[in-house]
Amino acid sequence: MFKVHPVPAHRLPELLRAMPKAELHIHIEGSLEPEMIFALARRNGVALPYASVEALRAAYAFTDLQSFLDIYYAGASVLLKEQDFFDMAWAYFEKAAADNVVRAELFFDPQTHTARGVPMAVVINGLHRACVDAGSQLGISADLILCFLRHLSEEDAFATLEQALPFRDRFIGVGLDSSEVGHPPEKFARVFARCAELGLHLVAHAGEEGPPAYIWSALDVLKVERIDHGVQSAKDPALMARLAKERTPLTVCPLSNQKLCVFPDLKDHNLRTLLDAGLCATLNSDDPAYFGGYLNENFLQTFAALHLSTQHAWTLAHNSIEASFAPAVDKQRWTHQLNQTFERFVEHDY
Ligand code: HPA
Ligand code: ZN
Repeated sequence: MFKVHPVPAHRLPELLRAMPKAELHIHIEGSLEPEMIFALARRNGVALPYASVEALRAAYAFTDLQSFLDIYYAGASVLLKEQDFFDMAWAYFEKAAADNVVRAELFFDPQTHTARGVPMAVVINGLHRACVDAGSQLGISADLILCFLRHLSEEDAFATLEQALPFRDRFIGVGLDSSEVGHPPEKFARVFARCAELGLHLVAHAGEEGPPAYIWSALDVLKVERIDHGVQSAKDPALMARLAKERTPLTVCPLSNQKLCVFPDLKDHNLRTLLDAGLCATLNSDDPAYFGGYLNENFLQTFAALHLSTQHAWTLAHNSIEASFAPAVDKQRWTHQLNQTFERFVEHDY
């Protein structure tokens, strides 16, 4: 581990902004800002059940995951054309570049779109083109992860996989999202086994609202490489010990957890507990347009609320690079850049 010299508290926000980092838990449909929802609705002639940007934003008062998902799927209904998907992802990448994100692994929910008659090719090609341009124009390494909606059937997931296979080279993995409680990971055992045979990376949302048992079955039945959220693992000491020993990454999203009332307040978040227990926890934005901030805002607010240290900052950035599915040479380069950033901040103190 890189031995970090503490920087003075007033310089920590600057360091958090400057450090290179990977974002591994971002639903690209959750980056649709209200302004863009209204612009796309106009462009595509889609009627919205909200009179204005302000009225839509005023509806962002969530009580749990489902209350958010209902609005999130309504917002995504304005996406129809390849250019819409490109524009949405490009707007995210511009913000990510400003946050010094060097690597982004974007979740997308194809069933939300194919169910409305949007072809799979439109979804994947628009997002893929934005990923390619993010690399060439912004220096961000980006890939896509296709998520199955867990409130739908496994049969539906299989049909979605089938539709996506002609574009197999345009996504690196699959995930599992949407309404968690009542839809345990094992419901998708067969489709995840098939994805493993196809050489896809495997991740799943587990332990956001659902019990630690869902994290165990994501690991043992689905055989995922990372757990998305996973904050409920703190309720299960045996699970905590296993996650620490195996260094299974958790992609934690503090502002999301606060806004969906998983924790009553950011001060009550267990990120410090997870890190101090030696888990490979990472910090992410989840649905930044809905939860009040992109990646650096998550870092700034969480560090302020939990009084996290310079060492925690380095560990979170390093964990994000370690946990990414990027090639080893890229991870080495980013780690070097990370260490240089920290050295620069220490040198400036003297
Ligand atoms: N959990 C489950 N499904 C989701 C989320 C989330 O945080 N965001 C978008 N889809
Ligand atoms: Zn999520």
